[in-house]
Amino acid sequence: MKLKGKVAIVTGASSDRGSAIAELLASEGTSVTINYLKRKKNAESVLKRIKKSGGKVMVWQADVTLKESVNKMVKKTVKEFGCVDILVNNAHGTISRKSFEGTKWNEYEENLNGTIKGAHNCCQAVIGEMIRKKWGRIVNIMDNIVNEPVKGYGSYITGQSALIGFTRSLAVDLGNFGITVNLINTGFTLSKKTPHAPPHVQKAIAEQTPLKRLALPVDIAKAVLFYASDWSDFVTGNCLVVDGGKVMR
Ligand SMILES: NC(=O)c1ccc[n+]([C@@H]2O[C@H](COP(=O)([O-])OP(=O)(O)OC[C@H]3O[C@@H](n4cnc5c(N)ncnc54)[C@H](OP(=O)(O)O)[C@@H]3O)[C@@H](O)[C@H]2O)c1
Repeated sequence: MKLKGKVAIVTGASSDRGSAIAELLASEGTSVTINYLKRKKNAESVLKRIKKSGGKVMVWQADVTLKESVNKMVKKTVKEFGCVDILVNNAHGTISRKSFEGTKWNEYEENLNGTIKGAHNCCQAVIGEMIRKKWGRIVNIMDNIVNEPVKGYGSYITGQSALIGFTRSLAVDLGNFGITVNLINTGFTLSKKTPHAPPHVQKAIAEQTPLKRLALPVDIAKAVLFYASDWSDFVTGNCLVVDGGKVMR
C-alpha cells in the first residue's frame, strides 16, 4: 500500500469526483475524512463503501468558505486519526452560465470564495500539522475551461484561474517545510451529476479529445495519488493536465 498510515482530508467528497479520490486514497491505506456541504447521503454512501473494503474513514460536514467550520473539521480529523498529511481541495464555487453584462460582482465573489477562500481556509487549518511533521501534500483541483474559456462562464473561470497563482505561491511559501503543493487541471468529467452539458456536447468533447473519451472520476483520483505519494517527492508548484490531451499548452 502506497500511503499506509497517512491521513487525508478530501473536500467536496460527496461528488463523484471527490468520492473517487477518497476511495482511491483509502484503498492505498490512507485514513480519510470525507467532507461534504449538503449531500449527506452521498457522503455516507462513500463512507460505507470505504468501510466495507476495510478502510479507515469519517464523514464531516463543513462549509469550506467558513474558517471556523473548517477548523472544526481539521480538529476532529486530528482527534480521530492523529494528524493530517494530505489535503485535497476539490470543493468549488458555483457554476452558472450568464452573459458578462448580467453577471454581478457578487457572483465573482461567490466563485472566489468557493474556490480560493475555501482552499485558503483548508490550507491554513492543516499546515500546522504538516509543519510539525515536516511533511505534507496539498493537491488542488481545477478545470481546463481556464485554458479554453467557454462563453458565459466568466465568474467560474475567474475563480478557477486564481488556483494557479494560489498553488504556485503556496508551493514557494511551504517548500522549506517539506510540503508540496500541486494542481490537477481536469477536463469535463463523466459523473452521475454531469449537469454541465447535454449528451451531444459531451459526444463532441469526447471526439475532440485525442484519447476519444471523457474523463472518469478515477482518472483524476489516480493523478491525486501521484501527487500524494512519494512518486512525486521532488515535484511542487506543478500542474498535471488530466484531460485525455484535449488541452495542450
Ligand atoms: N465535473 C466536471 O466536468 C469538472 C471538469 C473540470 C474540473 N472540475 C473540477 O473538479 C472539482 C469537483 O467538481 P465536480 O464536478 O465533481 O463538482 P460537483 O459534483 O458539483 O461537486 C462539488 C462538490 O463540492 C462540494 N462543495 C461545494 N461548495 C462547498 C463548500 N462551500 N464547502 C464544502 N463543500 C462544498 C459539494 O458538496 P455537496 O454536494 O455535499 O453540497 C460537492 O461535493 C472542482 O474543483 C471543479 O472545478 C470539474
